[in-house]
Amino acid sequence: MSEIDSLKAQLQELQDKALALFADAANSKVLQELRVAYLGKKGELTSVLKGVGKLPPEDRPVIGQFVNATKNALAEALDKAESMLAEKEKALRIEAERIDVTLPGRKSAQGALHPVQQGLNDMMAIFSQMGFEMAEGPEIEDEFHNFDALNIPAEHPARANHDTFFFDMEGTADTKLLRTHTSPVQIRAMQACVDAGGEPPLAVVASGRVYRCDSDVTHSPMFHQVEVFQVDKDVSLANLKGVLQHFLSAYFEKDVPIRLRPHYFPFTEPSAEVDIGCVFCNHKGCRICKGSGWIEVLGSGMIHPNVLKAVGIDSSVYSGFAFGLGVERLVMLKHGIPDLRLFFENDVRFLRRMGSSK
Ligand code: PHE
Repeated sequence: MSEIDSLKAQLQELQDKALALFADAANSKVLQELRVAYLGKKGELTSVLKGVGKLPPEDRPVIGQFVNATKNALAEALDKAESMLAEKEKALRIEAERIDVTLPGRKSAQGALHPVQQGLNDMMAIFSQMGFEMAEGPEIEDEFHNFDALNIPAEHPARANHDTFFFDMEGTADTKLLRTHTSPVQIRAMQACVDAGGEPPLAVVASGRVYRCDSDVTHSPMFHQVEVFQVDKDVSLANLKGVLQHFLSAYFEKDVPIRLRPHYFPFTEPSAEVDIGCVFCNHKGCRICKGSGWIEVLGSGMIHPNVLKAVGIDSSVYSGFAFGLGVERLVMLKHGIPDLRLFFENDVRFLRRMGSSK
């Protein structure tokens, strides 16, 4: 074969191979590499051109044309393959980035009130509708407000029953403690009224945390109470019973029977524990009410004259009732929650199930 024919054959072979490779290139990066490999300065075409120098001068233009044609064919094929790949890659990208607008959205989690807070809110709403004014007192109390003024003097056995958390200053003149009940707010509210030169009528509701040094399935060292009292001329047990009946039916959202059972509290006389008809068996008798049909819900009574005396209210003119309830206990009864500890563990499954954004 003559020199020129062999060159032509080489060029043809090169072109065939290149076009096949271009068509097969998987992506534009591979294609770019092929462009360099064939048309680059050190590429295949250049190395074939080196053979041109060996040809007789008259053959050179002929082969020159041939080389140009090959070069053009390669360049054109490369451009075509490139634009096809670019199209394909764009289509793939669009497909990958496609947003399925029919997919359901992701819900953002919404917080809810803790069941104890919901219970408190519900209870406070009922009492404020009845006209009771809200009051507050400190959680760190002194012995006067938590005990003495409530007719529980220093040696009174009831002090021992209160399982009090004392601050480390016991025996000093201003011993501090964590209040064991919300009854000291009675004292503070009555004092505030008297100090401002006022006098009864007083109708007050207070709520908040209380602390007792015991902890088991039914007791937590911290829990919540709501305290309600009313002082006026001629306030009687009948007023107490009426307020209790209305409150308990409103809170449980049904007519619950109630009964007052004689009891003892130092700060009330007479005192009564209040039972409601068991909400689990509708008053018939079940395991939870131990077959009695009744469940104890709160402590109450007529404010002891000594308590009125301690704050400077004349007990021969005024009388009053008071009661105090455990918020957790009522919430448990209303929602059938079996274990007090659920309120304090903050297991989100419990909180989600109980939660309401009310
Ligand atoms: N303070 C009492 C307690 O915590 C409850 C109570 C309040 C009883 C008011 C009578 C009157 O046990």
